[in-house]
Amino acid sequence: MQSPLQSGLHVGIIMDGNGRWAVARGLPRVLGHKAGVAAIRRVVEAAPDQGIGTLTLYAFSSDNWRRPPDEVSALMGLLQRYLRAETGRLAGAGVRLTAIGRRDRLPAGLAEAIGRAEDLTAGGTRLHLRIAIDYSARAAILAAAAALAASADPSPAAFGRAVSGGAVPDVDLVIRTSGEQRLSDFLLWESAYAELHFTQGHWPDFDADDLAAALAAFAGRERRFGGLAAPARAA
Ligand code: FPP
Repeated sequence: MQSPLQSGLHVGIIMDGNGRWAVARGLPRVLGHKAGVAAIRRVVEAAPDQGIGTLTLYAFSSDNWRRPPDEVSALMGLLQRYLRAETGRLAGAGVRLTAIGRRDRLPAGLAEAIGRAEDLTAGGTRLHLRIAIDYSARAAILAAAAALAASADPSPAAFGRAVSGGAVPDVDLVIRTSGEQRLSDFLLWESAYAELHFTQGHWPDFDADDLAAALAAFAGRERRFGGLAAPARAA
């Protein structure tokens, strides 16, 4: 179910550069991920007041399983601790948290923490925070296609819901930190008409001002959705 406020913008963030942030400081990569969690807190707190109704964060891609086992297990641990520690605060702030991606390959404790966070925050209407964990947009599209083939409702809307894991608005803006300019299998279906914003800074340094700057750049874009610019339409 969408709340009225969730008709606000849908912003997706590819939180890149944790490793480089840590290495630049002579720290182990995992401390970059830890600092990345603090940036998540800042952005989640700032998002509702900046007109964001849905925020999707790319925390762990299905291709991230290729990382060294130590780093994978540190990320799983961080995610689990984040969910355990933040659920109460998120619920109190009116944030509904859901996770997208596969759950069957996650450590049992993390899968359990996701379910608990989803249950306890289900009433939130101020912000829909979606965390992508073991997520692949291509896999989500393929799974939705398989479900559609077996479904009595083969409408585009039902397909979109199956891809997105529920009724969420299309993505308006994708932000990627740390200089890379690619989508890396993130929200490919939902971002058909998304504006893209790339920043040079690493994710652990991202803050409310960076979010506001991305939204200001977005506000200056003309979105035509395949149509014509306003003056040409009027002519
Ligand atoms: C990309 O940086 C970041 C990730 C693969 C993980 C993002 C995870 C977090 C911010 C912390 C855990 C998440 C939550 C929701 C608690 P990178 O490691 O690819 O950096 P690099 O490109 O500099 O190596």
